[in-house]
Amino acid sequence: MNLNENAIKVLEKRYLAKDENGKLLENPEGMFKRVARAVASADKESVSAEELKDIEQEFYDMMANLDFLPNSPTLMNAGRPLGQLSACFVLPIEDTMEGIFETIKNAALIHKSGGGTGFSFSRLRPKGASVNSTGGVASGPVSFMKVFNAATEAVKQGGTRRGANMGILRVDHPDIMDFITCKKNNADITNFNISVGITEEFMNAVEKNEDYNLVEPNTGNIVGKHNAKEMFDLIVDMAWNNGEPGIIFLDRLNRDNVTPEIGQIESTNPCGEQPLLPYEACNLGSINLSNMLKDIGGKTEVDFDKLRNTVRKAVHFLDNVIDVNKYPLPEIDEMTRGTRKIGLGVMGWADMLCKLNIPYNSQISIDLAEKIMYFIQDESKKASIELAERKGVFPYYDKSIYKDLGVKVRNATTTTIAPTGTLSIIAGVSSGIEPLFAISYIRNVMDNDELIEVNPVFKQIANTEGFYSDELMRRIAKRGTIKGFGEIPENIQNVFVTSHDISPDWHVRMQAAFQKYTDNAVSKTVNLKNEATHKDVSDAFWLAYKTNCKGVTIYRDGSRDLQVLNIGKVK
Ligand code: CDP
Repeated sequence: MNLNENAIKVLEKRYLAKDENGKLLENPEGMFKRVARAVASADKESVSAEELKDIEQEFYDMMANLDFLPNSPTLMNAGRPLGQLSACFVLPIEDTMEGIFETIKNAALIHKSGGGTGFSFSRLRPKGASVNSTGGVASGPVSFMKVFNAATEAVKQGGTRRGANMGILRVDHPDIMDFITCKKNNADITNFNISVGITEEFMNAVEKNEDYNLVEPNTGNIVGKHNAKEMFDLIVDMAWNNGEPGIIFLDRLNRDNVTPEIGQIESTNPCGEQPLLPYEACNLGSINLSNMLKDIGGKTEVDFDKLRNTVRKAVHFLDNVIDVNKYPLPEIDEMTRGTRKIGLGVMGWADMLCKLNIPYNSQISIDLAEKIMYFIQDESKKASIELAERKGVFPYYDKSIYKDLGVKVRNATTTTIAPTGTLSIIAGVSSGIEPLFAISYIRNVMDNDELIEVNPVFKQIANTEGFYSDELMRRIAKRGTIKGFGEIPENIQNVFVTSHDISPDWHVRMQAAFQKYTDNAVSKTVNLKNEATHKDVSDAFWLAYKTNCKGVTIYRDGSRDLQVLNIGKVK
């Protein structure tokens, strides 16, 4: 199997089964076998023993060849007693003490199983509102977020991963200013990503420089007004300061809600790519685009046949996961089996572009992004329709927009672009649809180890072209870009662009290109240089809004003290 050293390290540390003394009970091959067997077993009743073996082999090959990987909880837990296979959950928070603490308990159960949780705090009454039963006053959403944060801190998920949370507050909630500034100090509320839930009405008011209403959720009363532009600028200022909050466009999430009769979407999962209904979960998986290429007469091209084949198998795999999954709560079981959402996405996009000799920041790459994602979307729907013919439509089909369209699908959604934070390490490729972070860089890995990493595609080309040296890689790591290195041919300098060579608008345009053909949302960080201005942040937000993105997260280099990836820090 073609796993690099980092991949093996990560798998051994967190993914492979161990006994109570920490001794490994399986190797990576064994892990993929365990996962393939468990996921294929969903077909046990409907196919012959021989066909079941073939399905298992297909699933195994797809993972072992690193063509497709399911999200981490599936790799960790499939075929093991815990059996919780989804990365993404959204829980409701009711405006009662019982409701709030019930959700904290449920979130703890989900974190224990390796899942991440998103919540909207928008239903909670604002700070200072009265509490009838006690005659006291309410503490407000931000104060309760701190309780959720502390609970998450305490449940360290023995050996797998720390719980991640998304906290969302609507921009018209009276406590919105407290929320926008709640992570100003980096040390606070560290187990949450936060996003402001933006409405169309608000964006219109910003454009016209008008006031907008603040509404008390528990009464529906308008309790104040605020200038929309000032509020927008406060979000920009905080995001410039340390990357938080992000923004999500709530009305767009609901415009694309395929089961509006069942409920409104008020939150996403922790990294923002998966909008879900309250109590809904979703399992994700990513196709490694870097492997979807072929050589024709010395020319590298996208292998659409292989891609089609991989999409078909991946949809089958992810749909099976829904059946073998052990959900942490009965409400989640019911909802998730009801909509049967899956989220197929991609990783290794930047590596694919490098192999094709296409710069990330170019119109050709935007066009190719649309072509590839259109293809994946289309094939995933065909696969879901085929599954529906064999196994039936999703149970809430009659409450979905698909019944009006007359299209019989097995899954309410099929596509999502995840960050692939760990999956991309396992596959040894660039993460999600992000550009290369650097050509060579220092990675702070677990236990504070530091490693110099060289992008494998670059390393290969540098070797073939004869300009590779360790000394050069260290110099590149210090600089964070290969622009201006005389020993590197110019066309290679143009193709191997890093996050920091790319202007923010290309980041946003790439996100928009993938979003165009993605059911759910796209995880993307718009990386800005340290010198970026407030206007740069504001421009990125506007471009994302105008190009139909579902949200934006920006990050200005060096604006948080502790970064996972560092450039220019070689000792
Ligand atoms: O690569 P991997 O499958 O581990 O995860 P990812 O693609 O980076 O993240 C996908 C989703 O997994 C996130 O949006 C979260 O919902 C969840 N997640 C989590 O709960 N805790 C983490 N430490 C990382 C991810």
